[in-house]
Amino acid sequence: MDAKERNGSVSNGEDRDVFILAIESSCDETAASVVRNGREVLSNVISSQIALHTQFGGVVPEIASRKHIEKINQVITQALEDAGMTLDEITAIGVTYGPGLVGALLVGVAEAKAIAYAAKKPLVGVHHIEGHIAANYIENPDLEPPFVCLVVSGGHTHLVIVKDYGVFEIIGRTRDDAAGEAFDKVARAVGLGYPGGPKVDLAARDGNPHAMEFPRAKVVGSPYDFSFSGLKSAVLNDINKAKMTGREIPVADLAASFQNAVVEALVSRAVSAAKEYGYDRLAIAGGVASNSALRREMKQACEKEGIRFYYPSPVFCTDNAAMIGAAAYYEYIRGTRHGWDLNAVPNLKLGER
Ligand code: KG4
Ligand code: ZN
Repeated sequence: MDAKERNGSVSNGEDRDVFILAIESSCDETAASVVRNGREVLSNVISSQIALHTQFGGVVPEIASRKHIEKINQVITQALEDAGMTLDEITAIGVTYGPGLVGALLVGVAEAKAIAYAAKKPLVGVHHIEGHIAANYIENPDLEPPFVCLVVSGGHTHLVIVKDYGVFEIIGRTRDDAAGEAFDKVARAVGLGYPGGPKVDLAARDGNPHAMEFPRAKVVGSPYDFSFSGLKSAVLNDINKAKMTGREIPVADLAASFQNAVVEALVSRAVSAAKEYGYDRLAIAGGVASNSALRREMKQACEKEGIRFYYPSPVFCTDNAAMIGAAAYYEYIRGTRHGWDLNAVPNLKLGER
């Protein structure tokens, strides 16, 4: 089917479909996607560098940049091919320009600028976390703002009120480690390797979540803020003690108990924020949102409270370009356009343009 024939009703205020070619390169995935009208993913190509970074126990920024530059043209070509589209048929180019690793972001930004300039297409820069949140729009046609979103990734743990498309109020954040960072550090210490989240998730399935009692920190005066460093230290202390005394580490029980403590902190705050602020819809986003215990516990807690729970498929939770295409669409519709001076902004704030 020709892209122009693939027409449904167009309800975007434009007189024709909007096709975004989106590019994501903020960390260790080189990704490109074509998204129609912000919700329909026509292609989603992800070249992961995980195998490359595993030997170092984490992402090595310079290696990530070098790999992005090597892969990005093939990934974009594949995304257009999978969508059955030519560059001519694309409406605008969307790209993550922050936050993230500066050298990694620069590859995507330079590529997007070059394509937009050569093909005479508008350029729309996207905040990476706005992308993660927008991943929820892809498979949930009924989801529209306002709603509460818990964003849990390797670099961020934010409790956000999505007031409108591209309009956010952050009501809670982590005071120290991000949730994903805690997963990664615990996994490394216990010998599960990188990336830690999925490995802990898997190991925890055979463990007892109540085998060990780890501390649950509350931030005094900030009921929606998070703190995971105390929990992380307690787990690391346990591991060190076991190593020093030659005791075997009960990996499955430890993973399950640690995961349970993180999930409890995330679920309790997100659900009480939705209730307190009067929202009956709650979404989760970011790599940690693919955690099976978090999905299960959040679903249960929401059902109990009469809150509708939204979550993306795992492939749209971890870094991908389809989510950037969804976010770029809503930015495009609200008139966001970036100039040829667009740069990578490693510490870009959510809602900044
Ligand atoms: O969103 P993402 O792909 O990249 C960032 O923007 O940071 O998130 C990556 C993080 C990593 O810390 C990874 O360990 C964690 O998400 N993660 C998980 C799971 N899958 C990925 N954490 C817990 N359980 C999982 N199943
Ligand atoms: Zn991410």
